[in-house]
Amino acid sequence: MIIIGGGVAGLMAALAAAPHPVTLVNPTTLGPGAASWLSQGGIAAAVGDDDDVSLHIKDTLEAGAGLCNPDVVARIISAGPAVIDTLLAYGVTFDRTGSGARALGLEAAHSRRRILHGGGDRTGATIMKALIEKVQRCPSINIIKASAERIFVDDNGVSGIQIQRDGHRLSLKTDRVLLATGGIGGLFRDTTNPPSAVGQGLILAMEAGAEFKDLEFVQFHPTALAVKESSLPLVSEAVRGEGARLVDEAGNYFMNGKDLAPRDVVARHVFLHRANGHQTFLDISGFSERFSDRFPSISAACNNADIDLSSHLIPVKPAAHYHMGGVKVDEMGRTNIDGLFAAGEVACTGLHGANRLASNSLLEAVVCGQVSGRFMAAQGARRTGALQEITFPAKADATEVRDIMSDYCGVLRSGKALEIASGLLEALAINNPAAALSLKIVEAALERKDSVGSHMRVEFSMEKAA
Ligand code: SIN
Repeated sequence: MIIIGGGVAGLMAALAAAPHPVTLVNPTTLGPGAASWLSQGGIAAAVGDDDDVSLHIKDTLEAGAGLCNPDVVARIISAGPAVIDTLLAYGVTFDRTGSGARALGLEAAHSRRRILHGGGDRTGATIMKALIEKVQRCPSINIIKASAERIFVDDNGVSGIQIQRDGHRLSLKTDRVLLATGGIGGLFRDTTNPPSAVGQGLILAMEAGAEFKDLEFVQFHPTALAVKESSLPLVSEAVRGEGARLVDEAGNYFMNGKDLAPRDVVARHVFLHRANGHQTFLDISGFSERFSDRFPSISAACNNADIDLSSHLIPVKPAAHYHMGGVKVDEMGRTNIDGLFAAGEVACTGLHGANRLASNSLLEAVVCGQVSGRFMAAQGARRTGALQEITFPAKADATEVRDIMSDYCGVLRSGKALEIASGLLEALAINNPAAALSLKIVEAALERKDSVGSHMRVEFSMEKAA
């Protein structure tokens, strides 16, 4: 079997499939190139003494604004405590308090402290390092540094993939492929994702004929560091969980005590406050003396950007962060194409609904990567047809797409703006798959004539933005 993508979902799948032989295809050396590596806040699981899986399920359903699949929520959230044990067994170390208890963080819309973190705000890197080490030692996993360019599908399903390695194109035969390629933040001007995250997995799936679900639901994180680059360092929600408050240049607490409201609500407030001419900051004065110990990578990002933390103010703005929609999958990660699976951000399981609860994404990647890896490995072999000819795919170029998506399909949307985006993208889509994918997102946003969760159409129920 072939896994495309070396983030948390792909690595978990490869390990779960062992000893079944796996080829793991990733465009870079395993490590910081994956969005999982950047994850700060952590991984949510009901492991605290005052917590219960039923409370975590309730919080997930509420954040998802009525559009989560309750069965999927129950299944994935219930698996949380067990997969934390698996990660510990794999060598992941989560932070502990001075007394040795698990250090559990609080993030928006969680009714309990349940966010496990590692290395302070370096949770993604902490988990990834342990998984990479384990994958590299696993004899059944063969890692290939290459870009996946195409999934071959015939009447019976998947028959192989085309990759590009060191400038050469070649095809690999297989009857099963797992897409674990991450998200689409790079289709927007400001993103917390690596800029290369332009939906490569969705493009492969789209061209293979896979069905998509909920493409319109793009989560904007309210507090990315407001620097000039387009790939913005995140300022974790955990910072607000520790007591930071959103303020403007005059020191007004414009969230009126609701700094930890669901992420879509906070993102809209920050967006609207900035649209009204204000600057927006996180005020960390309540715990500034502990800040750099608890949040070392955010402190480093501030230092790199010449932000003086002794002012206790961190400039922030919303940025595209996570895609709730994606390739439609069932409980095993199966798509509508025989032999094609998806896990992690590229997939739409139904866990997140219209707005993902913070730190449920690493949980989903771990649980679903593991489930898909096991399931795929247990499948009997399927006869595959001959591989198709090597082709030279058009390059996914997000340069022009970013402005269109940000200006017309961002935090606030309208039918009129989406129609403009659709027209502009149609012209680009013919030979630019990033534009073709963006067009599908815009069409989904046009189709949903409602305001729900992260999808705010200004002509519908604007009061929900209050
Ligand atoms: C954060 O740390 O604020 C992000 C966590 C997440 O996206 O779940």
